[in-house]
Formats: sequence, structure tokens, C-alpha cells
Amino acid sequence: MAVREVLVFPHNKLRTKAKEVSVFDDELKTLIQDMFDTMYADDGIGLAAPQIGVDKRIVVMDVASNDGKSSEQIVLINPVITKKEGEVISNEGCLSVPEYRADVNRAEKITIEALNAEGAPVVYEADGLLAICMQHELDHLDGVLFIDYLSRLKRDRLLTKYKKYKKERNLE
Ligand code: NI
Repeated sequence: MAVREVLVFPHNKLRTKAKEVSVFDDELKTLIQDMFDTMYADDGIGLAAPQIGVDKRIVVMDVASNDGKSSEQIVLINPVITKKEGEVISNEGCLSVPEYRADVNRAEKITIEALNAEGAPVVYEADGLLAICMQHELDHLDGVLFIDYLSRLKRDRLLTKYKKYKKERNLE
């Protein structure tokens, strides 16, 4: 078990467009396990590789762990949203933007095509929390945070708040 450090906004590595994964080896499996360990340690339901400073298009999720009973691990590698339907307002938080939540607009239903940890193609048709979490995590792969959907004024306030937050905690 290896819990990695989750980068906190503002951090340059949260803003990079992550690279596609082409090698499916033991190193990748270790990374994926570390991502799950890190996500669970922080009580998250999703984590994208750039959040631990890894420049790769990998997402791990366990939306079911939200209720504290079950567990349903999902790994999305090089994921692409191929279909979006409807619209929903979701109240979101992010491990990289701690102690903050805000409403953002998301598609209600989505279809995602990706590869799993073995490199095999997978397709998910998702709605509800799963669809929202997938959209949030996929954004991370393109350097987008949920707070980017807020007004300029709110984002400017958050920038000030988190610069202070990180300075107080000696975070990079
Ligand atoms: Ni996030």
C-alpha cells in the first residue's frame, strides 16, 4: 500500500494535458493500486493521475464506496466520452481543492470508451453520480478543475484562499 501526495490547487501539474498510456505492465498496475490507496485514504470517490503528479491519462473511481458498504472499482485508461445526454447540476468537491464544494453543470448521461488495467477496451454507459464523477475525473486529464466553471470573481477568491492555505501548510 502506497499513499501518494495529492497536489492542491493551484499547482502547475494540475494544469497539464496528460499523455496517453501505451504500455500495460506491472509498473502501471502498481501506479493504479497507489491511486486507489490514495483515493481511499482521502475518502475520495475518484482520482486522476495528474492529481498525484503523474502525467498519464488514468482515472480510478469507486463511487459505491461512498456509502461505506460496497466497493466497485473502475479503472479508465485513455478514456473518451463518446456520447452526452441531458443536463444536470451537480454539487462537487475535489481532493485537489480541499474543503470546498460548488454547483457545476454536467451532462446527465454519458457513454465512455476506455481501456482497463490490462489494456482491454471497455465501454460504460453511466448516469447519476457515476456519470458526474466520470466527467469530473476526465476533466483532470485535460488540466481542467471543476472550479474553472465558476465565475471569474469566485475563482479569483479561491486562488487567494488556496495560496494562503498552501503557505500555512507548507505545500508545494
Ligand atoms: Ni477532482
